[in-house]
Amino acid sequence: MVNAVTEQIQATLNANKQAEIGQAPEHIFILFGATGDLARRKLYPALLRLWSEKRLPQHFAILGVARRPYNHDTFREQVRKAIEEFAPSALTEANDWESFQERLYYCSADATKSEDFPAVASLVKDLEANLNIPTHRLFYLAMAPELFAPVAEQLQASGLTAIGHAPADNNPHLPWKRLIIEKPFGRDRDSAEQLNQALRRVFAEDEIFRIDHYLGKEMVQNIEVLRFSNALFEPIWNHRNIASVQITSSETVGVEERAAYYDKSGALRDMVQNHMLQMVMMMAMEPPSRLKVEAIRDEKVKVLRSLRALKEEEVAHQVVRGQYRAGTMNGQAVLGYREESGVQPRSSTETFVAARLFIDNFRWTGVPFYLRTGKRMGAKATEIVVQFHNMPKHLYFNPEGHLQPNLLSIQVSPQEGISIRINAKQPGTDAVVVPVKMDFFQHSESPEAYERLLLDAMQGDATFFTRWDEVSLAWKFVDPIADAFLDHRLPLEPYAAGTWGPDVATQLPAVDGYRWWPLSVQSHEEV
Ligand code: BG6
Repeated sequence: MVNAVTEQIQATLNANKQAEIGQAPEHIFILFGATGDLARRKLYPALLRLWSEKRLPQHFAILGVARRPYNHDTFREQVRKAIEEFAPSALTEANDWESFQERLYYCSADATKSEDFPAVASLVKDLEANLNIPTHRLFYLAMAPELFAPVAEQLQASGLTAIGHAPADNNPHLPWKRLIIEKPFGRDRDSAEQLNQALRRVFAEDEIFRIDHYLGKEMVQNIEVLRFSNALFEPIWNHRNIASVQITSSETVGVEERAAYYDKSGALRDMVQNHMLQMVMMMAMEPPSRLKVEAIRDEKVKVLRSLRALKEEEVAHQVVRGQYRAGTMNGQAVLGYREESGVQPRSSTETFVAARLFIDNFRWTGVPFYLRTGKRMGAKATEIVVQFHNMPKHLYFNPEGHLQPNLLSIQVSPQEGISIRINAKQPGTDAVVVPVKMDFFQHSESPEAYERLLLDAMQGDATFFTRWDEVSLAWKFVDPIADAFLDHRLPLEPYAAGTWGPDVATQLPAVDGYRWWPLSVQSHEEV
């Protein structure tokens, strides 16, 4: 019965979503870094799916730009190969490859050479004229972040961005330009500021779409719906009822082939400054006054403003950093971080961070938010666990104060759903109280984060993108922590690959009398 009802609700939600999402406007999608990893793994499959779902208009083209000397045909073959390799289901689900590939074009250009840009500009203009596409240009820079500013400058010099500024909710027939970039946005507040200034010389703030792909995840987007549309949750979503919030994003992969980037970045910059803080904001924000993009983003920013800043000397008590050593994953021996190819043999880059944060506002006063994220951990999972206050000692059911707390867990990935743990009488006993779990899992295939975010950017909806002040405030919070990591001021704790991070990380919740809860993927295993 419950399942039937849930399926019905799900079907209605899906149908509403279909009706509500609509189609992207006619435009040209200009993709720099067209032969790179991000494009091949994520963007082409997402674009093909959008095309097959008829989310993209007929008057539409993708112009790939990269150094390799492809022509349009070889580029089309490469895109097909990438989709076959990384998302074959996008091809089998869709029979629309043929019409999709006709929208693919390629321009061989070196993004570091100004002399290569006029060719890009003239191809864009030809495509617009020949395919009858209005001057709607979406630039996606899927490339090394040090190229963001120089490419923006060249786009301007080539005349490609010489388009008046048209706010997204204005007349859709006006010409527009937009820019999509993905982190890292600088490596601290100063460098992020410099990058932003360079971009702002070419694009207005509301033309810049900064991707944080966690904001494209179904369950991250669902947090505000769960919170603000349930009488069950909204009234108790505060310090009077909530004891703590734990946010975990654990990965089983190691550094993979990304040592050149990761060894300079580390888990703090790679995950905490962006994805983890975004989840904190979604959990902690106040309801927006209007369902308008800026009203929602304003509320998120207020959370960052209320985040208690950590002084460098406080970091040691509130943050743990770790690095994986050799260990075993799924029965296979794996290397330690320092043995990985491309990593400095004495690298002190952290592959794990756990932190204890406080949000100093009325709603959250005194409630610790525990974050942890790392590579080569026990399982791949992103999950948020809300722990409610203990019940008072009670003569009948809780004479010793041993009742387990209620937990609400929001499973972002790999499973999408929520579980609620409550206490109930064990059947057949008089008053033996045991925790029981109620699960809701999403049945529908959620769209990939990139599919959702690309469509949003095409439609000019910036709700699930990061605004500049969010980036800046997130760095402001993270910078002193990064400083405390320098020169081994905060010890680098080793942990064996395949475990849940350094043992000392258990102390963060332990000082408040709490513990890390096992995640759903750990089933009954205790941490
Ligand atoms: C990226 C990080 O932003 O997020 C990667 O750069 C990390 O290091 C990835 O692996 C995790 O994303 P997801 O969606 O797999 O949890």
